[in-house]
Amino acid sequence: MSENGSSTVLVLVGSLREASVNRQLAELAVESAPADVDVEWFDRLGELPFYNEDIDTADVPEPVAALRTAAARADAALVVTPEYNGTIPGVLKNAIDWLSRPYGDSALKDKPLAVVGAALGQYGGVWAHDETRKSFGIAGPRVVDGLELSIPTKTLDGKHPRESDDVVARLRDILGKLVAEID
Ligand SMILES: Cc1cc2nc3c(=O)[nH]c(=O)nc-3n(C[C@H](O)[C@H](O)[C@H](O)COP(=O)(O)O)c2cc1C
Repeated sequence: MSENGSSTVLVLVGSLREASVNRQLAELAVESAPADVDVEWFDRLGELPFYNEDIDTADVPEPVAALRTAAARADAALVVTPEYNGTIPGVLKNAIDWLSRPYGDSALKDKPLAVVGAALGQYGGVWAHDETRKSFGIAGPRVVDGLELSIPTKTLDGKHPRESDDVVARLRDILGKLVAEID
């Protein structure tokens, strides 16, 4: 928490697609955050090189340093992702790997984290969301129990998620509960 009492939530999105529904969900998170919450969307996951211990040195590539700095600044994290082939999109898994190091000293260590998202399938990407929770749970953050939202994209009817009162209310609820978990 900053000196003025506000909290910062880091947002990471597992889709690079311009018209991504998950990017729209991240927009909604930015719009619907409580007044005392700054949402910092780190929108550069596509710039991260593939994780490689040989380049995870004191002089890491700039996008990695920027990701870790943003994570260090954050008090909590919200991950928004689709499902690819039954699991976590590679771009997001790569970010998890970068954030999991230094081993035992992740920039997100012990910080509360929630995973939400949308996917085409009837379960809304729940496999990817569960796997993302599992992987982040190993990487360092504290995955908060019960903060779950997996939206089948068909239920949005081609509209921005901000037009669904149900999604707006559920995302707001999750953000509020996530922020309440900050120490
Ligand atoms: C490579 C690939 C794999 C996919 N695999 C799944 C899947 O396993 N389950 C699912 O529900 N949707 C799957 N989809 C469909 C995505 O859920 C859908 O394209 C979704 O809108 C992507 O999220 P976005 O709109 O944020 O980019 C897949 C899409 C792609 C491109």
